[in-house]
Amino acid sequence: SLATALSSVALAQDISGKVVGFSQIGSESGWRAAETSVTRQQAEERGVDLKFADAQQKQENQIKAIRGFIAQGVDAILVAPVVATGWDDVLTEAKEAEIPVVLLDRGVDAPEELYLASVASDQVEEGRVAGQWLVDNVAGADCKVVELQGTVGSTPAINRKQGFEEAIAGASNITIARSQTGDFTRSKGKEVMEGFIKAENGGADICAVYAHNDDMAVGAIQAIKDAGLKPGTDILVVSIDAVPDIFTAIAAGEANATVELTPNMAGPAFDVLAAYWADGTEPEKFIITESKLYTSADDPAGEYERRKDLGY
Ligand code: AHR
Repeated sequence: SLATALSSVALAQDISGKVVGFSQIGSESGWRAAETSVTRQQAEERGVDLKFADAQQKQENQIKAIRGFIAQGVDAILVAPVVATGWDDVLTEAKEAEIPVVLLDRGVDAPEELYLASVASDQVEEGRVAGQWLVDNVAGADCKVVELQGTVGSTPAINRKQGFEEAIAGASNITIARSQTGDFTRSKGKEVMEGFIKAENGGADICAVYAHNDDMAVGAIQAIKDAGLKPGTDILVVSIDAVPDIFTAIAAGEANATVELTPNMAGPAFDVLAAYWADGTEPEKFIITESKLYTSADDPAGEYERRKDLGY
C-alpha cells in the first residue's frame, strides 16, 4: 500500500545512530565557519554522531584524521579537501575498509571510484559569473584587474581563476594585471592588496579587484580605504561566497557583486549516504550547488539578515 511504501521511505532515510567523521580544512573564512556549523546542525537533526576534526589548513592533518576515522570504524567520512592532489592513498584505504567518503565543497585529483560522491559548486562557473559581471559593468572601458587567488593548489583557486579568465577572454579592454594568493583569509587579502596598490600607482591604475572569496575582498576593501580610495567606486570589488559581511559592504556601496556558495554541503551529503545505506543506491557522483549572483539590486540588507538563518 501507499502507506507502507511511504513508511519504508521514511525508514530508509533514517540514519540516526550512524557515526560520521568530518575532516574540515580549518576556519580560514566566514564561509568555512558557516559550513562547519551547518554540518553540525545537519548531523544533529538526523541523529548522526559527528566526529569533527579541524586540520588547521594542513593536508597532513586531514590525512591523519581520515586514518583515525578508518581505525575507529566510522560509518562514513566527509572531507573538505584543502588541496586537489595527494589523496589517492588515504582514499584507497577508506575504500578497502568499505567506508564511503563524500567530498564537500572542493574537489580532488583522484580516481572517481575512490569516493562515493562530491557535493560542490561548479567553481569554473562561479569564476565565469564574476567575470561576466565585470564585462557587463565596465561596458567596454579599459580595466586593469588585480586578482586575489585562494589557497594554492585548491580546486576553488584553480577553477575560479579559469572561469574568470574564460569570461573576460573576449573583452580585450579587461586585463589581469596582477594575481597572487591571499590564501582565502581576510588578513592576507588585505596584505596582498596593499602590495598591489603600491605597485599600481597608489591604486590609481587599478579598475577592479577580483577576489576568490569574500573574506579576501573584505580585507582588500580595507586596504583600498587605507590608501584613500573608494572601494566599490574607484576600484570595483567582485568576489565569491555571499557571506553576511560582503552584504554589509554591498549595502554601503563598498563592494559590487558576489556569487553565492551555499554553506549547506552536508545536507545533500547525508541524503546521498541515507540512500546508499538504505539499498546500496549508487548516487549521482557530482551534486552541483547553485551559483547565484548578488549585487546592490538584490536587497543586500535583507540578504544580510537572511544569512542568519543559513548558519552564519
Ligand atoms: O572551498 C570553498 C572556499 O573555501 C570558499 O569559497 C572559501 O571562503 C573557503 O575558504
